Amino acid sequence: MLLLLLLLLSPAITPAERCHPVDKAAIRKFKNSLPMWKLDRDCCDIFNCDQTTNRVIRLVLTNSNLAGTIPDTIGDLTYLNTIQFYKMPFLVGEIPQSVTRLKYLESFEINWTNISGNVPPFLAELKTVWTINLSYNNLSGPIQSSLATLPNLAKLDLSRNRLTGSIPESFGHLVAPYGLSLILSHNMLSGEIPESVGNTNFSQFDVSRNNLSGDASMLFGAWKDNTNFVDISRNSFEFDLSPVSFMTKELAYLDLSHNKIYGKIPSQIMEALELQYFNVSYNRLCGKIPSPWKLKYESFDNSSFMHNRCLCGSPLAQCK
Ligand SMILES: *[C@@H]1O[C@H](CO)[C@@H](O)[C@H](O)[C@H]1NC(C)=O
Ligand SMILES: *[C@@H]1O[C@H](CO)[C@@H](O)[C@H](O)[C@H]1NC(C)=O
Ligand SMILES: *[C@@H]1O[C@H](CO)[C@@H](O)[C@H](O)[C@H]1NC(C)=O
Ligand SMILES: *[C@@H]1O[C@H](CO)[C@@H](O)[C@H](O)[C@H]1NC(C)=O
Ligand SMILES: *[C@@H]1O[C@H](CO)[C@@H](O)[C@H](O)[C@H]1NC(C)=O
Ligand SMILES: *[C@@H]1O[C@H](CO)[C@@H](O)[C@H](O)[C@H]1NC(C)=O
Ligand SMILES: *[C@@H]1O[C@H](CO)[C@@H](O)[C@H](O)[C@H]1NC(C)=O
Ligand SMILES: *[C@@H]1O[C@H](CO)[C@@H](O)[C@H](O)[C@H]1NC(C)=O
Repeated sequence: MLLLLLLLLSPAITPAERCHPVDKAAIRKFKNSLPMWKLDRDCCDIFNCDQTTNRVIRLVLTNSNLAGTIPDTIGDLTYLNTIQFYKMPFLVGEIPQSVTRLKYLESFEINWTNISGNVPPFLAELKTVWTINLSYNNLSGPIQSSLATLPNLAKLDLSRNRLTGSIPESFGHLVAPYGLSLILSHNMLSGEIPESVGNTNFSQFDVSRNNLSGDASMLFGAWKDNTNFVDISRNSFEFDLSPVSFMTKELAYLDLSHNKIYGKIPSQIMEALELQYFNVSYNRLCGKIPSPWKLKYESFDNSSFMHNRCLCGSPLAQCK
């Protein structure tokens, strides 16, 4: 009872501010750059700070109408592990070079904003980073070959921008010790996939909806145990599917639709026992669909086989 009384009588205690002065100053400049942002609160109440150092480690801003550019002072938040800006349609301008000062950054995600300019080559200096997701922005220009030197890269998603040029040869020499999800869909990439890219340890490979051409068979191979997702649909790939062997262990998703792929569907596809999605429609394939189609999960819808030169057999019409 006495304790309660004491509590009631004691003056309102303002807890000491946790925000580190360096971070506070950096975020204040942020406020000038993003003028609609009211930032009167302790930065450690708004963002995640490390418990002992009180330095900001996660800078997350989502679903915000803040307008402006990313200020250079982002580079002063030296202990950042994660940057995530998501659904900020009025965030514009380029990625500032000062991000290269973030020596602990592991996850760099700016999705659904209007940042523009190139995917900067200096991102290759973010040696600790394992996720880069810059999807749904207004980025243009080529994919920098230097990105392939990132030693810990596990996810690179540059989908839904306006990127041009081809896939750099360097991506065939990427280390990818944890497997790489490379998502480049919905851009304006062209040219052929370099042969060397067949050596990369992909877990996911998605280049759908670009203007890529030539051979893509180097992506496949029964021995590629870690690849579970391949989508090369809606390009202009042109190669013989007959001699291709598919990954048998993890492959769950395979979309080859809307290309100019010819030859027949190899019966070896039956060994891909985890396959859940398979689509070869709108190509130039011919011959009998492997049967009986016994894949565990695949829905076996005839729309997965339609619009080819002369594919036949269940679920399409009988072969003549
Ligand atoms: C970019 O800005 C345009 C025009 O203001 C808007 O329509 C669009 O939704 C924005 N894009 C994103 C991904 O926020
Ligand atoms: C990247 O962000 C987009 C948009 O928010 C999301 O759909 C996608 O799954 C993310 N990519 C990866 C590889 O996590
Ligand atoms: C943005 O990208 C990250 C990293 O790939 C992804 O995990 C996340 O889902 C995306 N954001 C959202 C909210 O979709
Ligand atoms: C996208 O970037 C281009 C320049 O590359 C610019 O002209 C255009 O206004 C930007 N779009 C939006 C919606 O910001
Ligand atoms: C390839 O990636 C997988 C994870 O998907 C990993 O377990 C494996 O060690 C990697 N292999 C190589 C040779 O780096
Ligand atoms: C796609 O690439 C071909 C060359 O392979 C080129 O002729 C064509 O103009 C490109 N189409 C678009 C829409 O960029
Ligand atoms: C296969 O792809 C075609 C073309 O994009 C699409 O119309 C069809 O619905 C897809 N089939 C399945 C089973 O998703
Ligand atoms: C696909 O199957 C539907 C019924 O499931 C049928 O109406 C249609 O004619 C079939 N199309 C072809 C090309 O076999």
